[in-house]
Parts: sequence; structure tokens; C-alpha cells
Amino acid sequence: MQGVQDKVVILTGASEGIGRALAIALHRAGARLMLAARSSDRLAELAGELGEGVQWCPCDVAEQTQCQALVERTLGAFGRIDILINNAGITMWSRFDEAEDLAIYETLMRVNYLGAVYLTHAALPSLKASGGQVVAVASVAGLTGVPSRSGYAASKHAMVGFFDSLRIELAPQGVAVTLICPDFVVSQIHKRAIGPDGQPLGQSPMQEAKIMTAEQCAQLCLEAIAGRKRLLITSLRGKLGRWLRLVAPGLIDRIADRAIRERH
Ligand SMILES: NC(=O)c1ccc[n+]([C@@H]2O[C@H](COP(=O)([O-])OP(=O)(O)OC[C@H]3O[C@@H](n4cnc5c(N)ncnc54)[C@H](OP(=O)(O)O)[C@@H]3O)[C@@H](O)[C@H]2O)c1
Repeated sequence: MQGVQDKVVILTGASEGIGRALAIALHRAGARLMLAARSSDRLAELAGELGEGVQWCPCDVAEQTQCQALVERTLGAFGRIDILINNAGITMWSRFDEAEDLAIYETLMRVNYLGAVYLTHAALPSLKASGGQVVAVASVAGLTGVPSRSGYAASKHAMVGFFDSLRIELAPQGVAVTLICPDFVVSQIHKRAIGPDGQPLGQSPMQEAKIMTAEQCAQLCLEAIAGRKRLLITSLRGKLGRWLRLVAPGLIDRIADRAIRERH
């Protein structure tokens, strides 16, 4: 596919969910890939399945030195970076007044927001040299408030503010910035969500039959990335919500509340 064919892509959060589906879609479209996440086993397995043109590197994006090492590893393997996809992320599932352990608020900012900042900073000289592209997988929770996800929504709002600013800074240097805001997607994130006691839920609370698959989301992401689009919102309610909230913000609050109560 034009726009990604032969491009060297760093993809974080590639071991599961949207990242894994996007790795497969990018590989089919002819991209050369550096897959990153914390779990080496899952990465090695996926790289083995995909075959030629795919490398992997363990990386905890919350650690700046590991982000720098990931960039160096990519340059060593491929000699350039064309597209950086900041996809790694975690979430929570707890009302603020029920949260017993506030550590998750810091972890969410470190992984979802600072991880993307660290990696983008490390990759920027190479992206400028290639006239490349930074992609940030935020969320519709980066555009509106969501109950039971206050810390997650805050980290995704931070991403949106950061990458919207970066787009303006980087435009004269030919580096594109693409923000991706998925609505609910079937993935591991829901059962891994941190609950009020600071522990993962263990089971997805979502009505998974009613939400988008990771493969459907990855296809939309691929098209937005290849087209160097400014913004992708994956659902109709997300797209309409952006305009509706200007005239009826209370209605948007009720829609977000219902989405969480009905779990889809
Ligand atoms: N699923 C949804 O409903 C939804 C909706 C909107 C936005 N999103 C966003 O989409 C992105 C992908 O999420 P997903 O739904 O595909 O979740 P997922 O299935 O849980 O996958 C998350 C990926 O991120 C990696 N990861 C987690 N913490 C990391 C860290 N500290 N350093 C490096 N990698 C890390 C995980 O691998 P390891 O555990 O091996 O590190 C995994 O590969 C996230 O940014 C998420 O916020 C998801």
C-alpha cells in the first residue's frame, strides 16, 4: 500500500490487541517493522509468524533509556525510521471516589503519555531526516470525559494536547502527526484494566460482541497512517460527539455515562 510500502515503522504495544493486528496489516502492506512491547515471548512469536522484514525489541516505554535503546536498535537494523506508532497503552476501571490506590494515576501518565513523549523525542532526528510521521494512538477518551476512566481520560487528553502541538511545530520540517482516537475495541486492555484495589480486573467487563474487533480498528488505522491523515475517530458517536459537545455538552456526558453503564 502506498504510504507504508517499504517504510521502516516502529510500533509499540505490538504484542497484543490493536498493535498486533496493526503489525499484521502493516506487514501485508509492505512495511518493514520494529515491533516493541515488554513481553519478548509474544513479540518473538509474532515476528516469527510474519517473517522477513520484521524485527522486535523488548521495551518498557515508561523508561526513557529503553525508548532511546529501541530507536538505536531500529537504526542499527534498518538504518532509518519513517513512521513511529505510539500505540502501547494501559487503562483503569474505577470511580475516583472508590479508588483505594492512586498509583495507577501516575502509571497511566508514565505509560500512555510520557512513554509517547520519550520515544517521539528519541526518534525525532531520524523522522526529520526521512520527512516521516509520528502516529499517536490516543482514544475517544482523549476528546471527552469518561466515568470510571478518569486517569485514563487524563492521560489520553495529555496525548492529544501534546501531539496537536507537535503537529504545528513539525509541519515546516515535513514530519506529519496523525492522532488516532479509537472507540471501544476488543483487546486485552479491558481485562488488564486496573480496578479500585490497584489490581487488574482479570475479566473484560465489556460486551465484546457489540464492539469493534482489533482487525477492523487496525484496517482503519492503516488507511489513516498511509494517507498521513491528521485525525482518525473510529466510531460515528465519536465523530458526531466532537461537534455535538459544542452545543449540547450535557448530552455528550450522558452518552459517555451510558457507554460505560451498558459496556459497549
Ligand atoms: N481497546 C480499546 O477499547 C481501546 C480504545 C481506545 C484506545 N485504545 C488504545 O489503543 C492502544 C492499544 O491498546 P489495546 O486495546 O490493543 O490493548 P492491549 O491488547 O492490552 O495491548 C496493549 C499493548 O501495549 C503493550 N504495553 C503495555 N504497557 C506497556 C509498556 N509499559 N511498555 C511497552 N508496551 C506496553 C502491551 O504489551 P506488554 O504487556 O507485553 O508490554 C500490549 O502489546 C492503547 O494505547 C489504548 O489506550 C484502546
